Amino acid sequence: MKTDTYARVLLAGPDLNQGSFAELSRRKLSERFGAAVLDHLCDTGAGYEPLWTRVRSCLEAGELPLLLVDLDPLGGSQQLDWLRDRFKTLAGTQAERVFVCAGDAGDVAALAALIQQPDRHLGCVEVPQLPSAHAWSCIPPHQYRVLLCNGPRCTRRGALPLWKLLREELKAAGRLETEDGVHITRTQCQFPCDQGPTLSVYPPGAWYQVRDEADVRRLVQEQFVAGREVAELIMRG
Ligand code: FES
Repeated sequence: MKTDTYARVLLAGPDLNQGSFAELSRRKLSERFGAAVLDHLCDTGAGYEPLWTRVRSCLEAGELPLLLVDLDPLGGSQQLDWLRDRFKTLAGTQAERVFVCAGDAGDVAALAALIQQPDRHLGCVEVPQLPSAHAWSCIPPHQYRVLLCNGPRCTRRGALPLWKLLREELKAAGRLETEDGVHITRTQCQFPCDQGPTLSVYPPGAWYQVRDEADVRRLVQEQFVAGREVAELIMRG
């Protein structure tokens, strides 16, 4: 994909190649941008090497300016800083012509608008310093440890956008990575796939089935704010 501003626009994120989530995303993206957009997707579900390779080939081919749209539903500010830092290293003297932003593959109209608005894109030259000795060496503040299943069957059942909403709701409630809040760890399959998407919480060691946005909001308010189990969402044993 190209725009008036960019010689190349790449879209990167997990689950863009295979599975139900990928099928839906690819259909929506090609309807909005044309089938050629599928040649400019980089699936990062198994790691970022395909993205680095793709960016290197864009640099070598002189496809600049380059915009990378991060579609990871669980991405955030730190992820964008990390990507910018990697691109700064990869691009070297060409870093001033590489830009990033965070988009949502589920809202292609907003995505199209975002791509056309350079004032919402971040450069890769003045990148905030990545912390060198911070949280990575400490147990993060939390009351609950929450394990979010990113396994293939939960992902197909829409887990990723639900986990993104969970982070947003926890943050809005002041319960994300706080002393009285939640520390999130993403996992592979936790086993009860047929009841998923699966979310487990310690303490109390509860296994929850989170099927939709209403379940997410209820879990945040009842389990993580009020501190009581949500019996209706507990999985069968
Ligand atoms: S894929 Fe989530 S529990 Fe198996």
